[in-house]
Amino acid sequence: MTVVQRREVNRDRLRQIGEREQASYRQRTPRSAELHERARRALPLGVASSFQTYDPYPLFMTDARGSRIWDADGNEYIDFDMAFGVLAAGHSHPLLAEALQRRVANGTCYTFPVEDGVKLAEELKERFRADLVRFSNSGTEATMDAIRVARGYTGREKIIKFEGGYHGHHDDVLVSIQPPRDVMGPLEQPTTVPATAGMPRSRLAETVIAPFNEPEILAGILEAHHGEVAAIIVEPVQFNIGVVPPRPGFLERVRELATQHGAVLIFDEVKTGVVIAYGGATEYFGVQPDLACLAKSIGGGIPIGAFVGREEVMRSIERVPERDAPGVGIEHSTLAGGATRVAHLGTFNGNPLSMAAGLVTLTQILTRDAYPRLHAMADRLTAGCQEVLDEFELPGYAINVGPKGCIMFTPARVTNYRDFIGLDAELWEASFFFLANRGILLPPGPDDQWTLSVQHNDDEIERHIAVFRDFAAEVAG
Ligand SMILES: Cc1ncc(COP(=O)(O)O)c(C=O)c1O
Repeated sequence: MTVVQRREVNRDRLRQIGEREQASYRQRTPRSAELHERARRALPLGVASSFQTYDPYPLFMTDARGSRIWDADGNEYIDFDMAFGVLAAGHSHPLLAEALQRRVANGTCYTFPVEDGVKLAEELKERFRADLVRFSNSGTEATMDAIRVARGYTGREKIIKFEGGYHGHHDDVLVSIQPPRDVMGPLEQPTTVPATAGMPRSRLAETVIAPFNEPEILAGILEAHHGEVAAIIVEPVQFNIGVVPPRPGFLERVRELATQHGAVLIFDEVKTGVVIAYGGATEYFGVQPDLACLAKSIGGGIPIGAFVGREEVMRSIERVPERDAPGVGIEHSTLAGGATRVAHLGTFNGNPLSMAAGLVTLTQILTRDAYPRLHAMADRLTAGCQEVLDEFELPGYAINVGPKGCIMFTPARVTNYRDFIGLDAELWEASFFFLANRGILLPPGPDDQWTLSVQHNDDEIERHIAVFRDFAAEVAG
């Protein structure tokens, strides 16, 4: 194996590049600055989700088509962020736009079921080798509902979540996302660290944290909580700390351990599903979970969520116990231990707009034959960026799993969150602004990654590599 030399980054030079690029960003985007100032008077931090904010201010966008997006000053970007990975279908795919126009003209919400919902459920069943499907409106709802189903099914209350994994913003899982080093506890027994204020202390006891890619530590944790664990929830590829794939055999062992301990295995496929493969991580790694959570790309850009899974587990979903069978609510819930009626609810669940969007996205855009090209483009982008890193001896490596990838600005391979803490944030930040100022838009954080869509092309990949090369050359001096 060739060992590539890595050089020490000249910090003064890097700081100068970073400052110059931020100044150029401000100079190119005055309208976004102005809108952000106004927004801050109407919305905390000036945004609708705290993930959308970054310093000095986020770009405000006005238009997007295909692989391109335009900001409020009319600057055009090749979009590699793709809405935090929502858009494997690209922006406003013509087939999607047409289907949605038809749908908008004919009612967007009935709260009565529609045939498109049945067809979409059938499509997801086939892709994920699942028996049954339920829809929700976001990834957060999908994981929240899947966890409740798992608790109802097992009659247990605790869940196991991996450090550095993100599963949305409900109390059970908004813990140990990126815990500070001084409070995260030992690797063998990570502390459950709340990622937000406002979380009841009592909730923390229900979520047990395990390190990713350490199957034998997981085995020990399951032994310590024998008979208590309702579910193990895992991002099959940790895509919220850059790109951290499972070590060979890790997911298989997690599957085995879940079965052995009677816990429901939940794959959080919100980022992987229908993106890294036609049948998501379930197909890509050949490991079958009991439940899989989906959102983002399955809707082609329209809000949607879903969870799919094994008949025996999904059949826990019943009518609303209190209302439809008075007296069998609480007594028959997990609190009494044993019975298995779970309510799964939501006004917008299965709404005609989301169902039409999902159906056209999956049956006409992200079809099986779309994936080889997505993978080839992504592999080329990774290889091109890796050549640049090697040529200029920069500390970092390029990595992708299917059409999602990034540069991890750290010389050693990251296998879990604790390695990720060592990432060179200054290098990442300078690269973000350098690329954005030259029309290459990446996600505004080192924890996210680029996502390619069926509407990207080879020239755009080469442009990305060329601009990254200019950045690396300048950093290397
Ligand atoms: C793996 C994973 N699960 C769940 C979620 C939550 O999805 P949403 O933001 O749609 O609630 C996200 C969001 O980024 C995610 O990356």
